[in-house]
Amino acid sequence: MYTEKVLDHFQNPRNVGKIEDADGIGEIGSPQCGDVMKIYIKVDENEIITDLKFQTYGCGAAVSSSSVASTLIIGKSVEQALKFKNKDALEVLGGLPTEKIHCSVLAEEAIKAAIWDYSQKTGKQFAGLKGYKPDANH
Ligand code: FES
Repeated sequence: MYTEKVLDHFQNPRNVGKIEDADGIGEIGSPQCGDVMKIYIKVDENEIITDLKFQTYGCGAAVSSSSVASTLIIGKSVEQALKFKNKDALEVLGGLPTEKIHCSVLAEEAIKAAIWDYSQKTGKQFAGLKGYKPDANH
């Protein structure tokens, strides 16, 4: 029921861990299962996300989704990262079982929350954050 890609990213997750001097940290709990995802980002002076690490107290699908998301987002600008949708990770993974789709949403939400935290700390505004409220989904 899981694709090889999902298993690969679950067994060898990329960018797991913590960034001690992160520029932004996002933590999101899933209303569906109660699992938690935490994402750390480093942003340079050109608003490029140079590093992203994640920790998850979630299932294998959450690990795989965040691992893929990290590979898609590192090197992108903050505005590009704000356009990241869970379906981008699903595309790379070759899909997830329907009951596991919400796990990939966790990655999307945690990235947004980390960028929101970055914007709060720096006072910078980003078009992709317009109307975003950190606790809107739970
Ligand atoms: Fe909770 Fe997947 S079941 S994140």
